[in-house]
Order: sequence, then structure tokens, then C-alpha cells
Amino acid sequence: MARNFPHSYVVCTCKNVTLGEIIHAIKERGAKTLDDLDNLTDAGSCCGSCKNAQSDIGAEKMELYLEEILNKFNGK
Ligand code: FES
Repeated sequence: MARNFPHSYVVCTCKNVTLGEIIHAIKERGAKTLDDLDNLTDAGSCCGSCKNAQSDIGAEKMELYLEEILNKFNGK
């Protein structure tokens, strides 16, 4: 994730989940996988486009994916 997004940036537009909520779920609540994020924040539980580029079926592509955030904070 080379770009910088504000914590208020909405990563999952279906469920209106922000980057700040995702980071909180990863750092404070131990989310390690896309399923964990789904369970803890609801992110990715609707169309799935926000999960990763492969799942992005939207006409307009997402700028930031849940998988990128997980990878960054889980040190991959
Ligand atoms: S944008 Fe996240 S599930 Fe649709």
C-alpha cells in the first residue's frame, strides 16, 4: 500500500466500513483473514468487490482492497 488513505476512507462501500474500522479490527481485535474482517466489521460481506482485485466485479474499480490492508498490517 504505497498510497496514503485517511482513516475515514470508506473501503467497503456496501457496508460503509472505513479504513479506521478495518485497522482497528486488525490491530485491536486480531483479524487475520478476510473472514475475520467480515465477522468483525461486516466489510466484504455484500458484493465482495472490496476484498481484492480478483473479486472486484464492480464497474468502477476499488482503490484499496481489504486484502492489501491485511497484508500490510500482518507484515506480509
Ligand atoms: S464493497 Fe464491500 S462488500 Fe461490496
